[in-house]
Amino acid sequence: MVVLVTGGAGFIGSNFLLRSVVARPDLTFVNVDALTYAGNPYSLEAIAEAPNYRFEHVDITDRAAVDQVFDKHDPTVVVHLAAESHVDRSIASPDAFIRTNINGTFHLLEAFRGHSAGKEGARFHHVSTDEVYGSLGPTGLFREDTPYDPSSPYSASKAASDHLVRAHARTFGVPVTITNCSNNYGARQFPEKLIPLMVLKALAEEPLPVYGTGENVRDWLHVDDHCEAIWAVLDRGKVGETYNVGGRCELTNLDVVHQICDVVAAETQRDSDALRKLITFVRDRPGHDLRYAIDASKIERECGWTPSVSFTEGLRQTVRWYLENPEWIARVRSGEYRRWLAEHYDGRHSA
Ligand code: NAD
Ligand code: DAU
Repeated sequence: MVVLVTGGAGFIGSNFLLRSVVARPDLTFVNVDALTYAGNPYSLEAIAEAPNYRFEHVDITDRAAVDQVFDKHDPTVVVHLAAESHVDRSIASPDAFIRTNINGTFHLLEAFRGHSAGKEGARFHHVSTDEVYGSLGPTGLFREDTPYDPSSPYSASKAASDHLVRAHARTFGVPVTITNCSNNYGARQFPEKLIPLMVLKALAEEPLPVYGTGENVRDWLHVDDHCEAIWAVLDRGKVGETYNVGGRCELTNLDVVHQICDVVAAETQRDSDALRKLITFVRDRPGHDLRYAIDASKIERECGWTPSVSFTEGLRQTVRWYLENPEWIARVRSGEYRRWLAEHYDGRHSA
């Protein structure tokens, strides 16, 4: 059986493929990725030559190219991860988010409907985000029936993609499942996201830019637990259903940055208080959601999934991974990456 994975060169996609290609030798995995700034084929070197792995350098905004990939590989299952994923980029420049996250998802759904939907075991699994629900106040949890209320162009584009997936299920009978997951962290995450950005800046002893007051809360989940959740839904989830995925690990951004300072200090024999002094409060993200927190009881109950990596252990592993992989870091620090950081942070270092 062929499993087509989109966005497999990104953070979650590469971690998903590295585990799955080895653990499921009975399945052939086709990675469809445009290799944007966030896609890094170097992350996949360990499986590049595996007999059950193929790579297709394809942009999902190209409808004809998507159709050709389906003709060529005849997939039964799609795990759709490809997206523009960074909220700040969606505020600076939303166009690509509409093209990839909305039009790209539509092209995949149409190709799947035409080629795969009638096959035995067919499934279109859409990997989405808790950001579609908007922001929580100080209490409460996102449930699967929480109304959609996205704040950023990123989350609005993911909300639109979720609606398209459900519409294809209701109107055309396409067998779909959706997961809406909280913030992931772990190895191979592009260093524009909070945790790897702060780890690399702390290692370089550069200012640590915390937006606003640092009181915003995120619910952190190790990427390996997210990958297991996707398999739990593929294997035991009910067609047509949505499952929220989260770590029951609410932390303020300031808490996270303090813990990063502590772990970096411990791993590199530095003074944590000196690293904490690098924290700089910078202008807030426009439309910044205050708090995300997930009620994951449905996936726990129906699919037997629970997170297994504690934040303390996961953060230590993550810091060690960045320390042990300087070549990976050097490769992602391309000209494009440096330009983005310069454009994004210039003039932002005052609250
Ligand atoms: P990422 O930005 O690290 O990787 C995205 C991947 O998609 C890259 O390999 C990129 O090359 C590819 N891609 C982008 N545009 C493409 C296009 N037009 N055609 C083909 N490939 C394209 O993202 P990530 O953090 O790994 O997130 C993966 C998915 O999980 C996304 O759908 C995201 O919305 C969702 N998600 C992420 C998180 C998180 O915390 N990172 C949490 C919940 C859900
Ligand atoms: O909740 C799931 C979402 O988590 C995913 O859908 C997104 O793809 C993923 O990018 C992530 O979105 P966030 O906006 O929550 O992640 P980010 O790492 O950009 O920011 C996390 C928090 O840290 C957020 O409150 C903003 C803050 N922040 C971020 C950066 C990059 C800072 O204070 N300083 C920073 O430099």
